[in-house]
Amino acid sequence: MAHIIDGKAISAAVRAEITEETKKFVAETGVTPGLAVVIVGNDPASQVYVRNKRKACTEVGFYSEAYELPEETTQTELEALVDKLNSDPKIHGILVQLPLPRHLDEQRILLRIRPEKDVDAFHPYNVGRIMIGDYNYLPCTPAGVMELLKRSGVEVSGKECVVVGRSNIVGKPMAMLLLQAHGTVTICHSRTKHLEEATRRADILVAAIGKPEFFTADMVKEGAVVIDVGMNRRPSDNKLCGDVDYASVEPVASYITPVPGGVGPMTITMLMQNTLRAAKSSL
Ligand code: GUN
Repeated sequence: MAHIIDGKAISAAVRAEITEETKKFVAETGVTPGLAVVIVGNDPASQVYVRNKRKACTEVGFYSEAYELPEETTQTELEALVDKLNSDPKIHGILVQLPLPRHLDEQRILLRIRPEKDVDAFHPYNVGRIMIGDYNYLPCTPAGVMELLKRSGVEVSGKECVVVGRSNIVGKPMAMLLLQAHGTVTICHSRTKHLEEATRRADILVAAIGKPEFFTADMVKEGAVVIDVGMNRRPSDNKLCGDVDYASVEPVASYITPVPGGVGPMTITMLMQNTLRAAKSSL
């Protein structure tokens, strides 16, 4: 029987701390942290994320702006909006929701956001700072995972950590943060041979490949800490599920995050933390 890591409860605790800190910051400086969220096109999942990000801003006492641009928005138009937000003193954090429609150059947009306002930590400057361990912002999902581990009392130092997935948003920065916490880190991906041999070595397994219920009990070591970053629809009933086959893995693991209610709620919470940090650094 695993200890179930309650992402909703931990997220609520962190948000309460951020709310307190924000109140103090506003009282002392007169500055309200401001976040701008930009979304292009009408992907329903992205629209839900954006709505939740704005809701979270209100909850912790931030100012927020949302820009919902049509699918046909051009690179020039989007860059002009980023430029405007870059120089707007009310805005401390800018988030451009990914993925962007295919005709837009994502990397060029991310480069355009001023690194001080890059609360996603996707700008190459911030990515580089994470690499050398001297960062101001951490990408929200990996940062959320580290916070869950910390607040659940899971020690990373000296542990075998296996990250499955190598995206710029999750897998790569996740590996870097576990390394900084003194884990011994392996990154696996779709071309990894004998994946199950690697995952069975893991004391801490992070699943981030986007395949519904892919990781089964035979791929997990007895007593492993299992972190599920997946957010999928189960083909059989269209319900939300993770990358981990929860029913078979939960009895084998020592700690496990459920989907929904595990890593998901932490992502937006860490975005709030980065936005508050951005506002503080702006003074
Ligand atoms: N799309 C999926 N996750 C994220 C995220 O953390 N930030 C942004 N900007 N887009 C995303």
